Amino acid sequence: MNSGESEATEQGLVLLGVLGDPIKHSKSPLMHKIALQAAGIEGDFVPLHVKPDQLEDAMKGIRAMHFRGVNVTIPHKVEVMKYLDEIDEGARLIGAVNTIVNDNGRLKGYNTDGIGYVRSLKEETSVDLKGARIAVLGAGGAARGVIHALLEEQPESVIILNRTRDKAEQLALEWTTEAIPVRGYSNEDAKNVLATVNVLINTTSVGMSPLSDELPLETSLIPEGIIVSDLIYNPLETRLLRESREQRGCTVHGGLGMFVYQGAVAFEYFTGVVPAVEQMRAAVLSSLS
Ligand code: ATR
Repeated sequence: MNSGESEATEQGLVLLGVLGDPIKHSKSPLMHKIALQAAGIEGDFVPLHVKPDQLEDAMKGIRAMHFRGVNVTIPHKVEVMKYLDEIDEGARLIGAVNTIVNDNGRLKGYNTDGIGYVRSLKEETSVDLKGARIAVLGAGGAARGVIHALLEEQPESVIILNRTRDKAEQLALEWTTEAIPVRGYSNEDAKNVLATVNVLINTTSVGMSPLSDELPLETSLIPEGIIVSDLIYNPLETRLLRESREQRGCTVHGGLGMFVYQGAVAFEYFTGVVPAVEQMRAAVLSSLS
């Protein structure tokens, strides 16, 4: 047990929360409360509505009120880094923090989005990412977290396809190595570069409700039988996933698992306990339907 946990224990409670604007519809409180309960930890997880101009004060509040940790969501994941005492190496490279652990007033930021995503992909599809040829659609914040975690799995190569070619090329340049080539392309190059990939991941918001009729990529360009994954979980199965499954015989993986596992990894950082992931997933799923 580290010092932060002992402090929380002295208070009698492990106090956790999620900070965002808006925050009312976040499923994190529901999911983490289930995890606390299943782990037999006395505590609570609350939604915290924090406007951008209140972020610095909110961090002081986290310390003053002895929160053990918080998740951070839109729009604060980048800005919040200014107010932390320490930033984990992965989060620094990604450029965003979604999890803060409070060790006796010392705030350390982590990013569990990418790690959570990769855990979910591996658990739910049994994919072997080592040696895989991976295509990522999108080059924004979500893509950064996902690609960073994918590179830890030693794929053979990663290609990034984006509407704006420059952003794909920039990101590729930042992360390419001799061992694992990362290359950036425009969406228009899809038909020339997708033929040999075996995992395709959509990190853009194209296909998200209410525009769930949209496709980030023409389905006919997807190689048959590969793994297709979408970070979107609303709807649970996007048009991209449905058509990949029905028309291309693909194994598909939706975004709900990423949400659950980013929370599960954060919960481990907060409490040192591996949470009941399936109970967390079931709770979120039933609240969505
Ligand atoms: P996030 O943090 O969710 O990744 P972001 O940083 O705004 O959000 O990035 C959104 C990504 O989705 C970008 O890669 C964006 O492409 P551009 O770089 O060209 O803006 C992509 N994206 C968003 N809407 C899109 C659309 N309608 N068609 C194609 N790509 C889109």
